[in-house]
Amino acid sequence: MGRAEQPAFRLACGLELRPWCAEDAQVLADACRDPDVQRWNRPGELSLEAARARIGRWEKRWQDEAAAIWAIAEPGATSPVGLIGLSDVDLGGGSAEFLYWLLPGGRGRGAMADAVLRISRWALDDLGLHRLRITHSVANTASCRVAEKAGFTLEGTMRSALLHHDGWHDEHLHARVQGDDWPDLGR
Ligand SMILES: CC(C)(COP(=O)(O)OP(=O)(O)OC[C@H]1O[C@@H](n2cnc3c(N)ncnc32)[C@H](O)[C@@H]1OP(=O)(O)O)[C@@H](O)C(=O)NCCC(=O)NCCS
Repeated sequence: MGRAEQPAFRLACGLELRPWCAEDAQVLADACRDPDVQRWNRPGELSLEAARARIGRWEKRWQDEAAAIWAIAEPGATSPVGLIGLSDVDLGGGSAEFLYWLLPGGRGRGAMADAVLRISRWALDDLGLHRLRITHSVANTASCRVAEKAGFTLEGTMRSALLHHDGWHDEHLHARVQGDDWPDLGR
């Protein structure tokens, strides 16, 4: 993984998944101020300098085979509308966990379920992982739908699992394992 170039993917809605680059730093810093991203992803405040450093760390984490993070953007555009990635990549243990968000401009066209499917196929078929997780606050209905539509089985509820601005939230644990059926998103 780390020695290969990070692959790019095209979604059915026309958006593409590509690595983040230094020019995206302002969008990343601004995204952390989006109320929904703040509420559900809890990224904290990010200065432009810190955003540049974070993008640099993502590149390093790809090389270290620890994470794979993509920008979601119009082809050729320098302004991403979202992020999807796998963190906690454990090549030996065969598992990883999704993280994702979209800015308002990228929402409402089914992009994230499609993106989760594309990355899942790459992670399970090409990278050879065995199990992928999605966790989200039980109050985040849109994220729950994304997980369901991408064929991630709801395995249970983790009590008081994540501290949000308004207190501790229970979290759903969804997962897909090698051999699970692939959903047809109708595209
Ligand atoms: C969650 C998120 C990625 C989904 O974005 P998206 O791909 O544009 O989602 P869509 O608008 O296509 O909706 C996906 C499904 O959720 C449903 N949905 C969307 N918003 C919803 C809401 N507020 N309440 C209930 N359901 C909702 C849609 O109806 C759709 O289901 P359907 O296909 O059965 O109709 C996006 O809303 C987002 O980034 N939100 C803010 C941050 C966040 O929640 N991050 C995830 C942290 S785990």
